[in-house]
Amino acid sequence: MSSELLQQIREGGRVPGHVAVIMDGNGRWAKGRGLPRYRGHAAGMDSVREVIEGAIEAGVRVLTLFAFSQENWNRPEREVNALMKLLQLYVTRERNELVRQGVEVHVHGDTDRLAAGPRRAIEAIQAATVGGQVLHLNLMISYGGRAELVRAARRLAERVRAGELDPGDIDETALADELYTAGLPDPDLLIRTSGEQRVSNFMLWQVAYTELYITPLLWPEFRREHLFEAICDYQGRERRFGRVTAV
Ligand code: FPP
Repeated sequence: MSSELLQQIREGGRVPGHVAVIMDGNGRWAKGRGLPRYRGHAAGMDSVREVIEGAIEAGVRVLTLFAFSQENWNRPEREVNALMKLLQLYVTRERNELVRQGVEVHVHGDTDRLAAGPRRAIEAIQAATVGGQVLHLNLMISYGGRAELVRAARRLAERVRAGELDPGDIDETALADELYTAGLPDPDLLIRTSGEQRVSNFMLWQVAYTELYITPLLWPEFRREHLFEAICDYQGRERRFGRVTAV
């Protein structure tokens, strides 16, 4: 089934260069099976692997995954600890495979809040994967879209104070250049699992014209063929960026 969808994507032409994903529904998946919530997050790691491999197969160049939000720090300590352990396990265990696949990993967010273990593992995976040419993978950890905009505003203000920048020269490009995603295209497609119809403080600036794809599947159920289905759906859409249809 997934090879037929891949064929359809190749014939459909336009592959989204940047795909972003809000991975939601791990807790519900676990609850539905009478399991503790962390088991849902653990199962979600298999979906992360699937979606990375699927993105490579489909020819996506940038993949951005929302792995841990700033709001997630407010979850019970036990769940936060379990999530951090899983993140550390993932980046440690998958490092060699990601290097082999040509994936360059970037971690963005307020990572100063992470404990030494996960922080070191993140530094190690970023260093090990430098130069990967096949896929640029952004893992958003301790991330919030508003906080990213505040950070960008602060960085611009510092440049003004240093006399490097005139306030009148601050435009959309100048602001975008201070975001974590500086130099990358905005997401073409944003996938959200578990049926929730919200952006949840994710890449607020970057998703201005992004096509949304919401699936009722819970994140641990998401497999590469579901990514392919989302891409096929995207290929059938007309993107207007605020303009009228060409006649
Ligand atoms: C949302 O489900 C998911 C998260 C808060 C974390 C996502 C983390 C993973 C998939 C694990 C590993 C990730 C990487 C990048 C290695 P939820 O807990 O909000 O689910 P619920 O809405 O059903 O409660």
